[in-house]
Amino acid sequence: MNPYLSHRRALARRLPDGLILLCAGERLARNADTDYDFRQKSDFLYLTGVEEPGCRLLIDSRRGKHTLFMPRIDNQHRVWLGHVPGPEEARRLYGVSRVAYADTLALELRKARRGYRKIYADKDSLRIYRQSIRGLKAAPTEASDALSELRACKNPGELSLIRRASMITGGAHLAVMRSLRPGQYEYEAQAVFEAHCRAAGLKHLAFPTIAAGGVNAAVLHYHGNDARLRAGDLLLLDAGAECRGYAADITRTMPVSGRFASRQRDIYSIVLETQKACIERARPGVVSADLHIFSMTRIAEGLKSLHLLRGDTTGLVENGAVRLFYPHGLSHMMGLDVHDVAGGRKRRMRNPYKITIRFVAKLEPGFVVTVEPGIYFIGALLEDPENLRKHKTSVDFARARKYLDFGGVRIEDDILIRAHGPALNLTDVPKEIKDVEAACRR
Ligand code: GLY
Ligand code: MN
Ligand code: MN
Repeated sequence: MNPYLSHRRALARRLPDGLILLCAGERLARNADTDYDFRQKSDFLYLTGVEEPGCRLLIDSRRGKHTLFMPRIDNQHRVWLGHVPGPEEARRLYGVSRVAYADTLALELRKARRGYRKIYADKDSLRIYRQSIRGLKAAPTEASDALSELRACKNPGELSLIRRASMITGGAHLAVMRSLRPGQYEYEAQAVFEAHCRAAGLKHLAFPTIAAGGVNAAVLHYHGNDARLRAGDLLLLDAGAECRGYAADITRTMPVSGRFASRQRDIYSIVLETQKACIERARPGVVSADLHIFSMTRIAEGLKSLHLLRGDTTGLVENGAVRLFYPHGLSHMMGLDVHDVAGGRKRRMRNPYKITIRFVAKLEPGFVVTVEPGIYFIGALLEDPENLRKHKTSVDFARARKYLDFGGVRIEDDILIRAHGPALNLTDVPKEIKDVEAACRR
């Protein structure tokens, strides 16, 4: 069965008592008459597979009709933009019952609404078709809640797309390791990564590439990518491509001159051991927030062994001292969005801890999540007077300041939670010190 048809049927089963109406994304002007590269809205992609803007989807569950509405294309459009699937081709391609032109939807809604009291629609549809659906009870959050619920656990078709994105992204990371050399610019590493993905047929990145050398690795979402890589620096590459909308999100930290220096090795080993221990513990029923706390405990112990932190480990986690070195989450869901939905309202959990943790969910078979601990030396945190005062007994700030030229280390893999046994690691890129060094050595 067409996978998108099965997604739509699953949604219709959850929302059987109303019409379902969703709008695709629209092109966005970048400047003058040039648009940003178009990327479909993830919910629309999940339900239709349509990568074109301007479409609409109407699901009439009672009559078992799924209609895709497409913009009316004139010959002039074909002259400039080439082939666009006609109604019959689109019907077969997307497995819908019928294809119609988008400019007929307002009128069609007046017929389709007969027998319904309710409409499940996204915000754009409610705004655009306000007149045609007047009198129906609008339920704007139920559709997105049901879609979050469906999208959280990945089915075999979705997993094969994630695996393809991961495999190509992994190959691209390896290509960067192999071509890395002192004197290169960060954007050259970025170019090697992105060229590999494009040459493998992937059109979109899942997010802007972070190619951060030396101190730039301490900027969590660094996008400058324009500094020179020096011998002795580490390069942190956090990058991923998407395959038919499904993301990969991989980070590797690699030595520019092919060998980790002793201080780099110490920090890298703490992050690596933490990451592997977290992957080992990622099983159904485990709460992601507990795994995050566990990762902070491991990082705190490692930093204690380097005399950067001192005191009781639990206290260092609870008082936030470890967050001066590890100020982000361990994990997030991954799928059609790189930071993907984590299930609907019923699945959502309260954060059991006082500290801020964004991703709080009980892991389930079919979840694809990242595992990405890190250690960074960030001036904005280590020189902040408030932190100096608050954490003076927990942090050896004088020692930590000596690392301000270090940057940071993050290691990120994408894993699939399975019903039985350990999670399946979808990421195949060297991460052991000897393997990273071997890949970087010329
Ligand atoms: N690349 C963004 C993240 O790791 O979440
Ligand atoms: Mn990530
Ligand atoms: Mn990432």
